[in-house]
Amino acid sequence: MQTIAELIDAQGELTPASLIPLLQATQKEYGYVTDQAIAGISRAIKVPRSTIYGVATFYNQFRLVPLGEHVIEICRGTACHVRGSGLLCDHLRRRLKLQKNGNSRDGRFSLLTPACLGACSIASVIRVNGEFHGNMDENRLDALIDELSR
Ligand code: FES
Repeated sequence: MQTIAELIDAQGELTPASLIPLLQATQKEYGYVTDQAIAGISRAIKVPRSTIYGVATFYNQFRLVPLGEHVIEICRGTACHVRGSGLLCDHLRRRLKLQKNGNSRDGRFSLLTPACLGACSIASVIRVNGEFHGNMDENRLDALIDELSR
């Protein structure tokens, strides 16, 4: 795993415009944007930490907390939306008592809501730990969660 300093070095010439690529590189390496990374980026590109937090929280693509043991992605693309993906999200949030950051308190589950997962013909689509499941409904989602909870 690369250190924050190595990630920063790999960017070459640093300007405030380096912020987004640095946040992306950090998230790719660690799975989320760490406090340590924000501090290092702030020093490197001379942008206040508060500005970096503002940018990282503005863009949906960035996470400021680690992912849980099981990552459940519910597609929020149009095809899935019209086939009830919003209801699946609500159901999962209630069932797992997810916090605002999308994680369960025990750290076992994370919910992500990416745009189109590229499998619209089997909407609604979810991806669980990288594996696709189509034609999803609440009962099938419950069965998957039961399996992961064992
Ligand atoms: S809209 Fe969900 S897979 Fe395309």
